[in-house]
Parts: sequence; C-alpha cells; structure tokens
Amino acid sequence: MRKKRKKEHVENFLKTSYRGDTLFDDIFLEHNALPDLNFLDIDTKTSFLGKTIDYPIIINAMTGGAEFAHGINRDLSLLAKEFNIPMAVGSETILLCEDEACKESFKVVRENLGPKGVVMANLSGEATVEDVKIALDMVEGDAIQIHLNPAQELSMEEGDRNFAGILKNIENIVKSTDKPVIVKEVGFGISKNVAERLYSVGVRYIDVSGSGGTNFIEIENLRNMNMDLTELYSWGIPTALALIKCRELQDDLKLIASGGIKNSTDIVKSIVLGAEVAGISGELLSYLVHGGYENAKKYLEELIYKLKMIMLLMGKKNIKELRESDYKIIGDLKDLI
Ligand code: FNR
Repeated sequence: MRKKRKKEHVENFLKTSYRGDTLFDDIFLEHNALPDLNFLDIDTKTSFLGKTIDYPIIINAMTGGAEFAHGINRDLSLLAKEFNIPMAVGSETILLCEDEACKESFKVVRENLGPKGVVMANLSGEATVEDVKIALDMVEGDAIQIHLNPAQELSMEEGDRNFAGILKNIENIVKSTDKPVIVKEVGFGISKNVAERLYSVGVRYIDVSGSGGTNFIEIENLRNMNMDLTELYSWGIPTALALIKCRELQDDLKLIASGGIKNSTDIVKSIVLGAEVAGISGELLSYLVHGGYENAKKYLEELIYKLKMIMLLMGKKNIKELRESDYKIIGDLKDLI
C-alpha cells in the first residue's frame, strides 16, 4: 500500500496543474551598477549541519522505499555529490516494516554522498524515538527531518485524522536524539505561532516549506476521486510570508526556505530573508523525470551561474554578505505582513 502510494505521489505530482504563489515576487532587491567585484571571486560556500557545502541549496525530501524510488534517489544523490549540496531522503516510515530492496533505496543516498556529504533522514511527527534511531542509522543521517502534513493526511482517504500529541512527541524526539531535529511542512507552511511552539520544546531547525510549489492537496486529490478538494488548492502560507514571520523569532532558530523554490532569484531572496539554505524538491524532480540526469545537472548548473550573477549584481561577495542585504516588501506580501 505504502509503496503504491509513494509511486502515485511522484506520478501525480507530474500531473498537477494548479500553480500557487510563493510571494517571492513581492520582495524587491536593488541593483548595484558598480559592484567592486570579480565574478570569479563570488563565494557561494556556506556551512550547514556542521559541514561545508558549496551552495546554499538542498535537495529536499521526496522519495524512497520502492524499486522505482531507488533510481530517483540514486540520481538525486549523485547530483548532490557532484555539486556538494545536502540531500534529504523521503519518508522512511515505509522502511520500518519492509524488505532489503526498500532499505537499499535509502542507503544508496549515503553511499553516493560519502561521509563528507550532508544527508537528512525523514519521518513523520508520529515517529517513536526508536524509529528515529533506525531512520538516522539507515542513511547515517546528519539530522532527522520530521514532517508535519495535516493538510495532506486529511486529503487522503486512508490518511490520519488524529493530530493530537504531535508537539509532545516532537519534544520527546528532540530530548532523546543527539542529532539536530529539523521540523518541516510539506508545502503548506509553518506559521510564526507554530514555529514558536516548536522552539519552546527545543526545536532549532525549521523548514518552513510554504505554499506556492508542490501541492499535496492536489496530488492526493488525484488519488482520491471520491471528493473534490479544488477549493482548497490555494490553502497554505506562501513561502516568503512564512519565512519573514518565522525570522522574527530568536536568532538561534535556523530556517530553511522551501516550497516553490524554482530559480536562483528564489534562492537569493530566501537567503536575504534569513534562511540558511533553500530547499528544492518538485522542480528538480521534474527536470530529472522529464530529461534525465544530464537535464537535471544542466538545470543546477544554470541555477548556480545565475545565483552568482545575482550576487554580483547586488555587490555581495559571499553568503554572509548576501544574508545582510536590504530588501523591500511590496504588494500582497506587504498587506499580509
Ligand atoms: C515530497 N515531500 C516530502 N516531504 C517529506 O518531508 N517527506 C516525504 O516523504 C515527501 N515526499 C514527497 C514526494 C514528492 C513527489 C514531492 C514532490 C515532495 C515534500 C517536499 O519535501 C517539500 O516540502 C514540498 O514538495 C515543497 O517543496 P517544492 O516541491 O515546492 O520544492
């Protein structure tokens, strides 16, 4: 059942047609016509989960646990290795009850990335401390991502209906795990209030995963034809809004921007708004599935060229300088804030 669902998530993601809005367009960055910089000196390296990575980009959680997922995870992890960027595996709940092939589809990620690479394990908010240990061991994880996905579950016929006790469970996981715990959404966003509650139980990494990109209400609606969920396709907190509001909290709360990150401008704006790194899922998967490894590689190469291009055009030599840039908020985003 779970294997089938994982496959349908990828297939249905490719069929979705609703286009949301991250509101990143409502962030205005100023052009610098006199950058006192050499393009070759632009430094995109940064540190994440205690390791140095070449770009402030992560390949975010998608899949694992089935034969078809092995190929996807193999290719994504080879890309992560080639560009020296982190990668999160998809939910490992599936492996807690399944066979060797299932485990291999996760293990391949650490095998390809090697000990210097950054790999994140992934489980739901219902995971036990023992589950977390198994999931981390499986990929020798540098951190565990815990996903919150009530909108997705409620869109599934067979999904969870009881979300009581998840914060308490996360507190227990944070207290019993020696690796960083990253709490993430799956494309509907983390509000400031939710981030505050997570912070109060010890969470120090939040991936806001806002709306404007992959839409799990639509993905699940394509699996569950018994109900029309179209009116909810626009549900969620746009990524730029979630990021700005969560950034109002304590400085030691590290933020990851994801949800609708497609291009270099989105990545630059994520960093300017205070994220450590920006996470990409759907857009990279599309390039990979539609054009293969070389196509996905070309997408990332262009992304990186344009990231450096924008940094130069803002007069910012490195990620630290970029993070300290000024910006203006306009339009709908201004109204919402
Ligand atoms: C996901 N995502 C996801 N997240 C998670 O924490 N565990 C998971 O198993 C999955 N599975 C998954 C499958 C597929 C096919 C996609 C496209 C996405 C959610 C993902 O990590 C991210 O939060 C959202 O997709 C929003 O980012 P994008 O896709 O708009 O860049």
